[in-house]
Amino acid sequence: MSLKNPVSRVDTTQETLLFLKRWLKHPLRLGAIAPSSPALTSLISRSISVKPENYIVELGAGTGTVTRRLLEYGIPSAQLYVVELDPELCAFLQKSLPNVHVIQGNATDLASLLPKEVIGKVSSVVSGMPMSTMPLNVQRKIIDACLEVMMPDGEIVQYSYHVTSPIPALKLGLSKKRIGTAFLNLPPASLWRYQKAA
Ligand SMILES: C[S@@+](CC[C@H](N)C(=O)[O-])C[C@H]1O[C@@H](n2cnc3c(N)ncnc32)[C@H](O)[C@@H]1O
Repeated sequence: MSLKNPVSRVDTTQETLLFLKRWLKHPLRLGAIAPSSPALTSLISRSISVKPENYIVELGAGTGTVTRRLLEYGIPSAQLYVVELDPELCAFLQKSLPNVHVIQGNATDLASLLPKEVIGKVSSVVSGMPMSTMPLNVQRKIIDACLEVMMPDGEIVQYSYHVTSPIPALKLGLSKKRIGTAFLNLPPASLWRYQKAA
């Protein structure tokens, strides 16, 4: 998918300061110390598309750098649901992206956070959450919640600074594939695609 819709800019200094402030409060929960770079958000957005009858879910949107890029690359806001745990980041997302469905909550509860009409019609879940630092039982809850809301051939697209897969695919019944790496991100980040194993 190519760049289509310009999305209103946010003050990047304000965005970075907010991210840093929340990182100081919850370093493990945020994982990264700064929002994703344009190199990474472009890689993610080029890898995602949506049919008119389906939906995209973004987990752990932070200040919305990936969200804005997905919109710019043509994902309609009506088909995009964003879930963010941090109340302050969530308030920022709701204010800066008024047309997107922004939900404050835990990704483990995804199936009960989304409206009923969306369940089973999610083609891609994009995640920026620090999955690799979460205990296996929490990872399992999140993956099970994703599988519950996704179409049978839906995908989980996860970005990570790890050299190896940030999700233990085999243990969680998933197939995995590295889609690409954004070398211009600091540190370089890889993008992974997970699907329910056959
Ligand atoms: C590395 S930041 C990603 C920020 C943004 N997507 C970006 O690329 O700039 C990870 C985000 O995941 C959120 N998060 C962590 N655990 C979560 C959970 N269980 N449910 C929802 N969001 C979560 C954090 O609050 C944080 O905003």
